[in-house]
Amino acid sequence: MDLVFEIKKKKEFRNLDDSFVEDALRKIAKENQLDISKDEEIIVKKTRAFLREVYGAFLSKNFDKRDKLLSSLAGLNDLEGHRKILKLHISTAERIPYYNQVYASIFAITGNPGSILDIASGLNPLSYPFMNIQAKYFAYELSKDDALFLQKYFDKMRISGETLFGDITKSEEMDKLPQADICFLFKAIDTLESIRWNVTAELLSKLKCKWIVASFPLRTLGKGKLISEKRLSWFLKLINGMKYERIVIGDEVFFVLRKA
Ligand SMILES: C[S@@+](CC[C@H](N)C(=O)[O-])C[C@H]1O[C@@H](n2cnc3c(N)ncnc32)[C@H](O)[C@@H]1O
Repeated sequence: MDLVFEIKKKKEFRNLDDSFVEDALRKIAKENQLDISKDEEIIVKKTRAFLREVYGAFLSKNFDKRDKLLSSLAGLNDLEGHRKILKLHISTAERIPYYNQVYASIFAITGNPGSILDIASGLNPLSYPFMNIQAKYFAYELSKDDALFLQKYFDKMRISGETLFGDITKSEEMDKLPQADICFLFKAIDTLESIRWNVTAELLSKLKCKWIVASFPLRTLGKGKLISEKRLSWFLKLINGMKYERIVIGDEVFFVLRKA
């Protein structure tokens, strides 16, 4: 059985690159001491559960409508059209009522950035009109397909934007990241840590940005149960010694870290 093919039969994983699915299969087999050639069924099941946790769970069921919605987007002033696309990804959907406040609060601390690096961006680059600034935008996402969509958006809106794609938990990918005034790690760290434990320390040290804004959800996915900030004690330890401010907006906590 071609396990990658088998996993990608499910619509929610169709956009994922084969190499990432292969890495996931190997990781799951190793962690569960399973044999890829013998324990196929259980490996497929467990790998799908893992891929759902790091990717599939954030997509709304209409995610494949994004191209159609993009083609009817009238321009950067079409805020309602932007909201319709932001709704297709759970993380951005949850932030829609707060976007103006989020960026006003962050930029009040950092000043208006001239360049932004958005890591594990999801559809967040489409919140650009809510930033009320002009900036160069680098977006990094896991799959090529999702990155291509973001590039289409930048091109259509004439935003000076570049997209990169790959698995950012890999050291060689981190080394390729461009320099920027500010780096967004919105709701990204939990996901990246579940792919590679302790990856955040390396990522924070490698980022060539003056400011890093890392956020975490304060509720489980989709307006679920409250989750305590106590679980972030490891992160607070990691940033101990750095200058930072903490902001809570909606069900999200943002840490605005000064790097340089
Ligand atoms: C919780 S969502 C957050 C999306 C966005 N930052 C936001 O808050 O609106 C996590 C994102 O991480 C992306 N992702 C997962 N693993 C990744 C990896 N290894 N490298 C890059 N992006 C990844 C997923 O595709 C998903 O869009």
